[in-house]
Amino acid sequence: MGETFKKAGVVGWPIEQSKSPIIHGHWLEQNGISGSYEKIAIEPANFEKDIQSLIADGYRGCNVTIPHKEAALAMADVVSDRAKAIGASNTLVFKDDKIHADNTDGVGFISNLKQLAPKWDAKLGPALVLGAGGAARAIIYSLLQEGAPSVVIANRTQAKAQTLADFFGDHVTAITMDDVGNVLADTQTLVNTTSLGMVGQPDLVLDISALPKTALVTDIVYNPLETDLLKQAKSLGLMTVDGIGMLLHQAVPGFEAWFGTRPTVDDVLREKVLSA
Ligand code: ATR
Repeated sequence: MGETFKKAGVVGWPIEQSKSPIIHGHWLEQNGISGSYEKIAIEPANFEKDIQSLIADGYRGCNVTIPHKEAALAMADVVSDRAKAIGASNTLVFKDDKIHADNTDGVGFISNLKQLAPKWDAKLGPALVLGAGGAARAIIYSLLQEGAPSVVIANRTQAKAQTLADFFGDHVTAITMDDVGNVLADTQTLVNTTSLGMVGQPDLVLDISALPKTALVTDIVYNPLETDLLKQAKSLGLMTVDGIGMLLHQAVPGFEAWFGTRPTVDDVLREKVLSA
């Protein structure tokens, strides 16, 4: 008897922009796995019904993107601690007649830093996170899990930063964008989670020369790959990590759960996704 054909995909609305099929397609081929991973458009009103159809069709699970990440969490039978804390799910696994929800954005962020900046350690000092959206929430959660002694959040809409700080508790504080300059000298990890600096968006205007020489600077924007923030950090001699790896690493746990093999993030994959 041949190996069972394994099916997974990514659901969203719209879905055309998703790069996930390139990532999973690469790993399926690299590992010689008999399976498929496709884009599946699901309208918000049909989310639960269409997920049930995927289960009935024998899918092993799916990635979940905008606007379904909260709905995915809400319909799951089993929710991982990190998905619960982040309040959204990007990875569903259908097994044992149950829907399991996980959120792999934070672990993807951390794995990327560990791969590209092996000397970096969250425990080395306070982190400063720019932005207070969904990505910031996942990143703050994982920085704290990794042992960051404290996290400062700065956001255009300060109320959103304050809400996040209140949620995470004692070691997390919110400041205004105008106050960023005052905390740089005490920051070991600087993360931009806003869309500033992305093609078609306003620039991120920030002088980071007060950061310690040991600081790491990373940006979740990956178009352009080298943002102005990363350029400035490099010119100051700081460690930098670009944003494409977070997208690649967040895909690892889902692939392993659906297809049974833990895949690796390598340069061939990076180049494939960047040139797509
Ligand atoms: P994601 O899920 O990727 O985090 P999001 O929830 O839309 O996306 O969050 C986008 C972040 O970028 C927010 O922190 C947003 O700031 P506000 O909370 O004030 O909206 C930030 N952002 C987007 N455009 C911005 C701009 N022009 N200036 C400053 N911050 C901006």
